[in-house]
Amino acid sequence: MTSTVNKAQRHDSALRHATGQAVYIDDMPEPPGTLHAALVLSPVACGRLKKLDLAAALKMPGVVAVLGPHDVPGTNDVSASGKGDEPLFALGRVEFAGQTLAMVVAVSLDAARHAAEAVTIDIEADEPILNIETALARKAYVQVPATIRRGDPEQALASAPHKLSAEFQVGGQEHFYLEGQVAFALPGEDGDLVVHSSTQHPTEVQHICARLLGCDFNRITAVVRRLGGGFGGKESNASWVAGAAALAAHKAGRPVKLRLPREIDMVATGKRHPFLYRYTVGFDEQGRVLALDAMLAADAGWSLDLTPGVMARALTHTDNAYWIPHFRAVGYACKTNKQSNTAFRGFGGPQGVVVMEDALDRIARHLDRDANEIRALNFYAEGRDETPYGQKVDENHLARCWIEVKQGGEYERRRAEIDTFNKASPILKRGLGLFPLKFGISFNLPHMNQAGALVHVYTDGSIRLNHGGTEMGQGLFVKVAQVVAEVFGVDIDRIRPSATSTAEVPNTSPTAASTGSDLNGWAAYEAANTIKQRMIAFAAEHFAAGESDIEFADGAVRIAKPGSNQVVSFGELAKLCWLGRISLSATGFYKTPKIHWDGAAMRGRPFFYFSFGAAMAEVAIDTLTGESRVLRADLVQDCGDSLNPAIDRGQIEGAFMQGQGWLTCEELWWDKQGRLRTSGPSTYKIPGSRDVPSVFNVTMLANAPSREATIFRSKAVGEPPLLLATAVWTALKDAIAAAGDGRTAVRLDAPATPERVLAALATLKA
Ligand code: MTE
Ligand code: MOS
Repeated sequence: MTSTVNKAQRHDSALRHATGQAVYIDDMPEPPGTLHAALVLSPVACGRLKKLDLAAALKMPGVVAVLGPHDVPGTNDVSASGKGDEPLFALGRVEFAGQTLAMVVAVSLDAARHAAEAVTIDIEADEPILNIETALARKAYVQVPATIRRGDPEQALASAPHKLSAEFQVGGQEHFYLEGQVAFALPGEDGDLVVHSSTQHPTEVQHICARLLGCDFNRITAVVRRLGGGFGGKESNASWVAGAAALAAHKAGRPVKLRLPREIDMVATGKRHPFLYRYTVGFDEQGRVLALDAMLAADAGWSLDLTPGVMARALTHTDNAYWIPHFRAVGYACKTNKQSNTAFRGFGGPQGVVVMEDALDRIARHLDRDANEIRALNFYAEGRDETPYGQKVDENHLARCWIEVKQGGEYERRRAEIDTFNKASPILKRGLGLFPLKFGISFNLPHMNQAGALVHVYTDGSIRLNHGGTEMGQGLFVKVAQVVAEVFGVDIDRIRPSATSTAEVPNTSPTAASTGSDLNGWAAYEAANTIKQRMIAFAAEHFAAGESDIEFADGAVRIAKPGSNQVVSFGELAKLCWLGRISLSATGFYKTPKIHWDGAAMRGRPFFYFSFGAAMAEVAIDTLTGESRVLRADLVQDCGDSLNPAIDRGQIEGAFMQGQGWLTCEELWWDKQGRLRTSGPSTYKIPGSRDVPSVFNVTMLANAPSREATIFRSKAVGEPPLLLATAVWTALKDAIAAAGDGRTAVRLDAPATPERVLAALATLKA
């Protein structure tokens, strides 16, 4: 029995979030002399930078400095890879409309932004590459194409009884974190810098600031108490923002804050990768898939950024829940003159799984069968349980999730009801979509799967907790605090989570790939347990008892002795330990076991385990306007033995809505010159409260503790449920098909905006 973990606990900042008392970087008090920075961006997508005239800006009131590439004392590169393909300030060539050219530093935000507009820019424009097709035709890639292959897909397709080919596209997605990109850099003595950054990756902030300034890592301390959302958008992009603030602070010798206004944030930073797909699928009379040959082409934007990882995850999720004996998936990472696309919740996984979902719908319509029977028929199962990249699908909960979602959602009854409705309704059509989920947990790069923690116990029994993970609203801090409370047997209120800092826990991985609580939970466990073991050893000696007779629970320590049980409070024992000169501080470290990956061969066991899930969504469309609505969603998500079911429920609901937004209403639009014109909430539509399905049933798979030794048998939850929204896209295709003969599959690109729904309906008529 546990007392604090595997139980609902409120977010440690819930009250502060709700009352507006949670401190974000822009809320921090500004020391006297604080300066503000504003960026100068390229208005042109591609060309040669002939001249940048900073003189007029320098003369503007309040301006302290205007910085460009020649002001970088170290290396003018902010790339996550360190490969030098991302200058902080463009030099010579401009690669996208929104690229940073220079930065103004002034006494006020208004003065800085005003002056930024006074910079004269002269660019000799070239023809930009603005879409995936053009990049494919020109073989413009940011990395060599990657392939996952098994068996003989060419031969298997040639001999398959049935074959279908299709093409479709999905769009990108703006992160739309509520707190925009921001950093506040404070110079200390002798060139030291403290950088407060809204980042998922403090260590990368530290490295990139040091790279720009040409100093040792130990000169830079990156600190982050919380982010107002990251969603992947602050994994690499926060680093260059922080780097720019650090450079300005270094140059001016004064504190500098750089906060991007929403429009600049949207124009200057990368988004989810749009993908174009072409595939051929071979299958038999029953609908059993025999082979898949798929091309996945991503719009990487102008630089490499995190594209290799995103592409690897897309390719390792193209199989999704299905056994495909002969398999080939080739990923092209196309270089375009657009924002450099980056991590976004799911990290390429959502863009991988849509291939088979599209294929199975087509197969079902072709064979005039229920697509959901065809789905289940192709699930991974005993005897056909190895992925195309060579990992066994262990602890397979697909069938369980599937049955639960169908039962909970009353699939048979509602299928019949919807079919009846559609027969009688010429204009409104309804559709039902199901989706099974298998999502791999771990960073694809094995070395990133490590974490550290630092725990101090004070002599009053209060505990300070620090670890390498960042809190972005997902509830990581409360989950890790629960783990530490559990170890010491104290109330969670005794644990004080503290800001993530490169000075406390060094060399950390980003908080990403949903691994935050898996990694940092274990690291904190190790740290706390080290202290606890010391306390036990001391208590045994002090009270002349056996070590196994000492028990930590309910904020107290019980020393069981024949005839005379003794109880001291946790704080009393801490104080006794201190008097006995016992160290009450420890670090903890964790590395994920069992994982390995050969990036060249694209084979191995990249994931410690899989998370499973299933979703069922019902939609209605108006065939005259193309408008749609999600009427109901039923979700089943495998969270293992959830560390905190209250937090996890929020993650599932939020992720699903974010996925729904990606697939339905969030449309990024660039003009013919390559300028992003959907650069604010008025033109870029994220889901609102009215878009939440009116019936929204979320359940966590019960009695499903992780078989692997995860922290208290929990499973990661941050990203997987986003993919469940694929059911909405499938349901929309189902509703559209109902406007035709029901057997004709349609191409429906995402986001399925009213225009796209109408276009799909039009193809039915043609
Ligand atoms: N939840 C909130 N509220 N805000 C966020 O920014 N990011 C998501 C997810 N849930 C995010 C979130 C992403 S992209 C990831 S990878 C995980 O949280 C990271 O945190 P975890 O590993 O602790 O789950
Ligand atoms: Mo999440 S996309 O891995 O930050």
